[in-house]
Amino acid sequence: MPNRGKFYITTPIYYPSDNLHIGHAYCSTAADSMARFKRMTGYDTYFLTGTDEHGQKIERKAKEKGVTPQAYVDHIVDGIKKLWKLMDIDYNDFIRTTDPRHVACVQKVFKKLYDQGDIYKSEYEGWYCTPCESFWTELQLKEGCCPDCGRPVEKAKEESYFFRMSKYQDWMIDYIQQHPDFIQPSSRANEMISNFLKPGLEDLCVSRTSIKWGIPVDFDPKHTVYVWVDALTNYISALGYGTDHDELYRRYWPADVHLVGKEIVRFHSIIWPIMLHAIGEPLPKQIFGHGWLVIDGKKMGKSVGNVVDPVILCNRYSSDAVRYFLMREMPFGADGEFTLRSMLTRINADLANDLGNLVSRTVAMIEKYFEGGIPNCADVQDVDKALWQLALDTPTSVENAVNAFQFSQALSAIWKLVGECNRYIDVTAPWILARNEADRPRLGTVLYTLAECVRRVAVMIGFVMPRTPERIFAQLGLEDRAEMTWDSLCDGQFCHLTCGTKVSKGEALFPRLDIEKELLRDQPKEEPKQEPSKVEKKPEKKGHSAPEFSEEISIEDFGKIKLQVARVLACEKVEKSKKLLKLRLSLGKDGERQVVSGIAQWYTPEEMVGKQVVLVANLKPAKLAGIESQGMVLCAATDNDEKLKLMTVEDGMDDGAIIG
Ligand code: MSP
Repeated sequence: MPNRGKFYITTPIYYPSDNLHIGHAYCSTAADSMARFKRMTGYDTYFLTGTDEHGQKIERKAKEKGVTPQAYVDHIVDGIKKLWKLMDIDYNDFIRTTDPRHVACVQKVFKKLYDQGDIYKSEYEGWYCTPCESFWTELQLKEGCCPDCGRPVEKAKEESYFFRMSKYQDWMIDYIQQHPDFIQPSSRANEMISNFLKPGLEDLCVSRTSIKWGIPVDFDPKHTVYVWVDALTNYISALGYGTDHDELYRRYWPADVHLVGKEIVRFHSIIWPIMLHAIGEPLPKQIFGHGWLVIDGKKMGKSVGNVVDPVILCNRYSSDAVRYFLMREMPFGADGEFTLRSMLTRINADLANDLGNLVSRTVAMIEKYFEGGIPNCADVQDVDKALWQLALDTPTSVENAVNAFQFSQALSAIWKLVGECNRYIDVTAPWILARNEADRPRLGTVLYTLAECVRRVAVMIGFVMPRTPERIFAQLGLEDRAEMTWDSLCDGQFCHLTCGTKVSKGEALFPRLDIEKELLRDQPKEEPKQEPSKVEKKPEKKGHSAPEFSEEISIEDFGKIKLQVARVLACEKVEKSKKLLKLRLSLGKDGERQVVSGIAQWYTPEEMVGKQVVLVANLKPAKLAGIESQGMVLCAATDNDEKLKLMTVEDGMDDGAIIG
């Protein structure tokens, strides 16, 4: 395949967190699928990912665990790399913001901006959201909290360096308006202009003296660089920008696309371009803001406690199946509801039935009727030609959709071909042709056509499902690498398979799942759906029935339970339940939780508000009376529940403090 040019794609660099969830995997899977597609279609492709390791959040977490921030992030980054391996995220480079190459680059960019007068020293007074690492003015706060994530903000007042963003405001508006492809989907461009640029850009505070875990400003080391300025620079530091070894920078910059979640489009399409413009470097060609994976309409995230673990899903259902679901189910720019049921339904319908059956029927019939040798096409008729044409046209539809980040449409085009092949089997009925010797040329043509379509499908799905093509090629007896390439789909010729090649039936590509049984297994998240009548018949669970204890547990087992002090911010009765109260709890800097607790017989909502309680903070979320409960409030109770008292801590303890 001729070289069609270069393609540089990035994911955001992830905050190191104990376990990334399927929402994070969504972003990486999309970037990886795009990178694989570009490589396969002849682009010199570079795919960058990494971790964003500085800032107050990490500094505090490491302190909680009693380790240095560096030791804390090192351990987590190993886990993130393992996850990407499990999910076949095939990046070219993994940049860490603690890498010396990155640190040096950030210091260089900061100094350049300072030397040319774009950065100046002053004093910052305002609000800071630690989870988002964002600064906010009093006016921007929503009910006193972060307007992005809704969590509490902290007052910050200190000497800081500022970046003259205001100077570039008009230039930025013009640039976005004159480059309609710069921010995609385009609705996000309008949002940036009307919500952030038009109201007026303020100079950005770009250093902190109160945060030690960051890149020091080399000419004033009591300051550390603001984490977003640090993090955004990864896209060029990884390419060797500003060093003597900047070959990659010269080859790949500007990036073709920064793929990011919609909540961080703002940083990528305002701060980052202004920084680049100010240092005289070209801008990335596109910022693509994808939607979120949500559960019950809420963004999947650790703070909400509704996360689904991609490791469990991949180990259970295969990484190819998980990747397929992520790319197939939701239109890429919009939010998409994640449910285990919808994933299992897709696996059964699209993978086990449509694709799996097509492959196994095709190979089985060639084995049965032609002793396993791919037959030749001796009697081609209109019905075959129609399918050939669809097979020849599909790669273009796929390419157009992928280039527009419409992964779902691309897969749907491939599955249209799969569906037509299955219909073709029904229409041509090879088992009837097999009854009559005179129909052998027709039978051969039908089975050749199917085998060739299966080959084409296998080539086309590889960018999303990197493991499955090999398994299909093995069943088709294919050894010629050229027949496994995208190129082999684009020469306008349908027939590529060599007659006589021996096929051999393998294991089912995707075994059919018993969905109801799967939903009853230890859940990655979702509760099994029950019919309303069954739910009604079930007696309401006692608030606090006596549990069964093991004789002994190890200190490690005990250490798995995260207990935290939480303050009741609000409390109300759960409708139609005598036992349940719904509580809104504050964990201080760790945000808020909703917990449903069976204590209504002992406490009124009014007396709960303001109390500090003990929360089991890492309990898997569950639904009680249809309401999500993100943890459990501890109580002491007598065996028969006659007496029940909430556990609490002595006065003066911070909300969110760890108990143990
Ligand atoms: N560290 C910053 C990015 C700096 S880039 C210079 C950050 N990290 S993150 O770990 O919080 O998020 C990484 C990516 O995961 C973001 O693009 C974010 O939108 C994405 N997702 C996190 N939760 C998600 C969902 N529930 N659904 C889809 N994507 C999600 O932001």
